[in-house]
Amino acid sequence: MKAPFVTLEGIEGSGKTTQIRLLSEYLTANGIPHVATREPGGTPLADEIRRLLLSPREERVFPETELLLYEAARAQHVHAVILPALSAGKAVLSDRFFDATSVYQGFSRGIDDSQIEGLNSFASGGLVPDLTLLIDVDPENGFQRLYGRGTKPDRMESETMEFHRKVREGYLRLQKEHPDRIVRIDGLPPADEVFRHVRAGVAARFGW
Ligand code: TMP
Repeated sequence: MKAPFVTLEGIEGSGKTTQIRLLSEYLTANGIPHVATREPGGTPLADEIRRLLLSPREERVFPETELLLYEAARAQHVHAVILPALSAGKAVLSDRFFDATSVYQGFSRGIDDSQIEGLNSFASGGLVPDLTLLIDVDPENGFQRLYGRGTKPDRMESETMEFHRKVREGYLRLQKEHPDRIVRIDGLPPADEVFRHVRAGVAARFGW
């Protein structure tokens, strides 16, 4: 069987980054070769694009520009990290992938779905996750966690609550459109409880 490609998605403060870490530790403990990575980022160039995208700036960033930068980072990440790992038989866990573009740049910023789909497919070389875990919390709870961290909000985190409500709505809608690939997990309980569901999700799919 081809090594699995698993992505985690969710709004800011959903706890998906903690879940990736717990899943990666679990796979390591069970001797399952894998790579844990994230978008935007995962390579030096893609990390530079991440800084460009997330640093607050005076200049207006147009949705089209934002979309192309996310896709540029993705193309680099897919070709330099994800595809080589999968070819080497390693599972890949990615903190976000193209669903984030469908939801943030598509549903929330309002760029047409067909444009997004075309660019998502181009940047990812046609690669589609085998499983996507949507760690779902409402924006009020997500932001409480985010601000609890005491770090300065980045450019995307500084968007309005309305924007983040749309992001959540977009994710839930996407999950309904792809019920076989995208599994919703309630992100509100404590991390170890959420992780039980994450582990059950990957066990059911890949026998991990
Ligand atoms: P992170 O907070 O999960 O590290 O993600 C960085 C931010 O980038 C987050 O606000 C979501 C956003 N994003 C997009 O808008 N489009 C994308 O395609 C990706 C991968 C992330």
